[in-house]
Amino acid sequence: MRPRSPLLLALKLSVVLGSLWTLFLLSGPTIDFNPTYILRYRWLEYTGDDGSPESVCNCTAIQQGDKETLEQTKILTITKDFRKSIQIPDEYYINATQDCRNFKLSRKYLTFPLSQEEEDFPLAYSIVVHQKVQNFERLLRAIYAPQNIYCIHVDNKSEGSVISAIEAITSCFPNVFLVSKRVTVVYAAWPRVQADLNCMADLYNASTKWKYFINLCGQDFPLKTNLEIVRALRYLRGGNSMESERMPENKKYRFTNSFEVVNGNLKVAGKQKTPPPFNLPIMSGGAYIVVNRGYVRSVLEDHRILTLIEWSKDTYSPDEFLWATIQRVPGVPGSNWLNAKYDMSDVNAIARLVKWHWHEGSQGSLEAVYPKCEGNHVRAICVYGVGDLQWLLTQHHLFANKFDIYTDPVAIYCLEKYLRQKALADLH
Ligand SMILES: *[C@@H]1O[C@H](CO)[C@@H](O)[C@H](O)[C@H]1NC(C)=O
Ligand SMILES: *[C@@H]1O[C@H](CO)[C@@H](O)[C@H](O)[C@H]1NC(C)=O
Ligand SMILES: *[C@@H]1O[C@H](CO)[C@@H](O)[C@H](O)[C@H]1NC(C)=O
Ligand SMILES: *[C@@H]1O[C@H](CO)[C@@H](O)[C@H](O)[C@H]1NC(C)=O
Repeated sequence: MRPRSPLLLALKLSVVLGSLWTLFLLSGPTIDFNPTYILRYRWLEYTGDDGSPESVCNCTAIQQGDKETLEQTKILTITKDFRKSIQIPDEYYINATQDCRNFKLSRKYLTFPLSQEEEDFPLAYSIVVHQKVQNFERLLRAIYAPQNIYCIHVDNKSEGSVISAIEAITSCFPNVFLVSKRVTVVYAAWPRVQADLNCMADLYNASTKWKYFINLCGQDFPLKTNLEIVRALRYLRGGNSMESERMPENKKYRFTNSFEVVNGNLKVAGKQKTPPPFNLPIMSGGAYIVVNRGYVRSVLEDHRILTLIEWSKDTYSPDEFLWATIQRVPGVPGSNWLNAKYDMSDVNAIARLVKWHWHEGSQGSLEAVYPKCEGNHVRAICVYGVGDLQWLLTQHHLFANKFDIYTDPVAIYCLEKYLRQKALADLH
């Protein structure tokens, strides 16, 4: 890691040598070894001239919500040839990462911090994946910065080629690693939380430097650049950001009954559970959080929380109450008091933007929370399409769920392009 970004120095220098700067820009890629590193900057843009099939799309018009372009793009994405052209087999990643230097270069991974501010504020990520390596790689590339640290949990039941491909990708980065203990994730059951806990422990132990922890899944994508994320987190002033609200009556069965995994499915075990330890009020929340290092320490070491974790292991969807409950435990760094005035919804928290089917509608309706999904629904959650992009970019959340490279590759393509352009533009 560099103590100071050469690019920054180069940019400061370029203010002084303004005309020289223009000269270098104009002279383009013919200069191979440029002492001002300006070529690195231009080179880091996603130009689409690497032959990616999405590059025929006009992302500017898509971002502006241009109806005709959106229609054309949708038609393109359902054509058979296009769908075929975006497939990348897992073996590709295993081969391509044999030459890590070339892989990082051709995929335009950032190899130095873009600013001192970001370098001084490293982040820790836990990413839980089970399939679609291309989705994962695009996500990793979008959030990758050398000062951050990334723990990847690949589901123990994933196909061998998925595990090998992700392992191969991680082997190219000193700050990206596979979790030390892999679990088999079962929908709505405890292991989903255990996957994040294992990464939390590994990240906490691997580095003392990082300031905030963010957990992701393979279908998330950032809406902000690393610099914007760092600034949003600094603005929290040590606080955490996540959904944490009163538990609705109709969800209480989730932790008043005991559940168990039978043949890979979660079933009611037919036993009543004891009340939560220390009479902790169980809050309603989501699986995705943005928390400071102290919160993670509490999760790993605070005896009240360790007891709560043990108690939660036979409940339904503990991911949707555990983090939210810990967020209201007195003494947990960055937590909030229990009073309802501190309740926070998923819309107001910055951790994750999710469009639930039943909350879609138009402004002015009492039930609607956001405009209707322009993509498809999976388990009542919107998988974003190109038509959602304009709206997504106006939201304050750091990440949005769900994106799927095989449902709408252009949504991801235009978003990653937008973010890289923004990251490079913010250097000025
Ligand atoms: C893309 O769309 C923008 C905005 O509508 C337009 O100004 C631009 O000319 C288009 N670019 C191409 C290559 O068609
Ligand atoms: C393997 O990767 C190298 C570059 O690292 C490339 O030249 C070669 O064509 C790839 N082979 C296959 C079968 O994809
Ligand atoms: C992981 O999967 C293997 C079979 O593929 C199984 O034997 C093992 O028990 C699993 N481990 C966990 C922790 O689920
Ligand atoms: C923490 O990391 C060190 C190596 O840096 C390792 O030896 C140790 O076992 C780890 N401890 C835990 C609890 O994972």
